[in-house]
Amino acid sequence: MPRCSYEHMPSEVPMPERRPLVVANWKMYLTPAESRREAELIRKRAAVLARSVEAVVCPSFPLLPDLHAIFFKSPIVLGAQDAHMEEAGPYTGDVSVLHLQKLVRYVIVGHSERRRLHGETDEIVARKMRRVLNAGMHPIVCVGETAEERAAEATLEVVRRQVGAVMTELPVLELPRIVFAYEPVWAIGTGAGTPAPQPAPGEAAEIIGFIRKVASDAGGRRYAGKLRILYGGSVTAKTAAAFMEPGVDGALVGGASTKATDFITIAQEIADAAR
Ligand code: PGA
Repeated sequence: MPRCSYEHMPSEVPMPERRPLVVANWKMYLTPAESRREAELIRKRAAVLARSVEAVVCPSFPLLPDLHAIFFKSPIVLGAQDAHMEEAGPYTGDVSVLHLQKLVRYVIVGHSERRRLHGETDEIVARKMRRVLNAGMHPIVCVGETAEERAAEATLEVVRRQVGAVMTELPVLELPRIVFAYEPVWAIGTGAGTPAPQPAPGEAAEIIGFIRKVASDAGGRRYAGKLRILYGGSVTAKTAAAFMEPGVDGALVGGASTKATDFITIAQEIADAAR
């Protein structure tokens, strides 16, 4: 496997064991019946996965209680796809951390589809992250540049701004409790069947190293070394292992995670590559 140069990574950052993490973001792809069926299939293979990787499934909100029951006493962990930045109030259609607290361990915040289609700013994302943490769950904060920003060579600037906004809301002691996902927007699948392009694994690892550096500068090296950072964007069973370069702690998977067999293969690939 090619090694990342760690150009952006201070050599003193300690690298303790960080358990690999693989997150299925089902978005709005599956019907309720399909969601339950795929969850049952994942549960049957859970024992194989749990030994070396933490596997998280994020279904649509109304499916959370059903999947909670399906995954009960299994090592599969449940996550939510979003949460509101306030705990309660006049927010039609939104979901509070209080509704999620007893059901999930992780909450995705700042996904590019939320930023783009629901007008979520860096400040909103940072407040959501804080709300999720305060409610005792782990936020998975998505960052990444658009195709236009990449073409303008603004990737590092954009990622620095997005990560920086989160760091200003984050007490340093809490840094190991959050997860970042580097998801270049141009690499995310559209669901239309045409495969999106992907960065070279080395390029993704460089930017993930940069995210750790930004977190380290803001929150201290000790804590940044414990932070898990995932890659996301059109990960499949075929490409997952290649993205597991040093410093990359797993994957956030959309389209390919909606088939239980593919998700299990991806999780196994990630576990094997991390060994
Ligand atoms: P994708 O989605 O794997 O379908 O590209 C990833 C994501 O948006 O989290």
